[in-house]
Amino acid sequence: MHLLKRIRLPLRGHRHPFSFIDPYIKFHKDDIVLEIGVGDGYATWTNAEKVKTIYGTDISKPLIDFLQEKNNESNVHFISMDITDTDGKDVRQFQNYFDKVFSIDTLLHVASSTAFFKSTYKLLKPGGEAYIVFPNLLGYGITHFDSEQTLIEQIVESGLKVQVLKEIIQSSWLRFLKKAFISSMLSISQKIIGNKHDNSHSSSVAFSNDSNKIYYQSQHFDGTHAFEIIKSDPWYRSLSNLYFECFWLLAGLRSKYHYTKPKDFKSTLNARQAQILLLILKKPLVDKS
Ligand SMILES: C[S@@+](CC[C@H](N)C(=O)[O-])C[C@H]1O[C@@H](n2cnc3c(N)ncnc32)[C@H](O)[C@@H]1O
Repeated sequence: MHLLKRIRLPLRGHRHPFSFIDPYIKFHKDDIVLEIGVGDGYATWTNAEKVKTIYGTDISKPLIDFLQEKNNESNVHFISMDITDTDGKDVRQFQNYFDKVFSIDTLLHVASSTAFFKSTYKLLKPGGEAYIVFPNLLGYGITHFDSEQTLIEQIVESGLKVQVLKEIIQSSWLRFLKKAFISSMLSISQKIIGNKHDNSHSSSVAFSNDSNKIYYQSQHFDGTHAFEIIKSDPWYRSLSNLYFECFWLLAGLRSKYHYTKPKDFKSTLNARQAQILLLILKKPLVDKS
């Protein structure tokens, strides 16, 4: 995507949208694709040129209205959808519709991961694939799935098949840059546009006081500081995007990720770093419903 166009997008996300999944993803020109939990919409727009049509969905209606208003691409549609409302009209409307589904950093924010997988199953065409990336274990002691078995059981129950389950290890170079760039970006941004929210990107995260217990708390993008940024002055947004372009340029100087078999699913309060999981799931050709 042209640099100027990227800089003019509402917000250049602090994660390179597909650097995690790039080596695994297979998009085709005739694919109809769904993104679950769009956030700033960056991954939706940047992947639009690789596919026929892309639908960006999110539970946050104010966010979807904002992104749709800014949208100039005829093959991109932003629609609100609660992915956990498995039997709701939005999921039913798009049943068996998508060739590919992808979702970045959203599974941990939804109220029910079981419902997330069930809806994904319904939304995919038979033979369709889903690419899901999320931090399972966070540095401050949250584990979403306490074991590989719990995760696989939920997926299998939905009817989906696990094609790939990998842990993504970020290089120390990338972690260092993220810390430096993102925290400085956020503190500058909070000074300029004010800080109405406690949290930078998530209005709430799943949390756990007891490392053996798992809690989920639903999160809506419109309650975040990131939403304040994307609604802010276009000049300010373009400057933020330029800042992130520099960040990714520097990040690209050294290798960023490697993929490994997931090891530790247990929450520990002094966890070394986030355990980021990559899932590739397939809906079998014979629909179970
Ligand atoms: C941490 S953000 C990730 C956004 C983006 N994918 C990214 O990587 O920057 C999580 C997103 O999931 C959305 N979300 C939370 N619960 C949801 C649900 N039940 N259905 C659809 N989207 C949901 C939030 O509104 C938010 O935009």
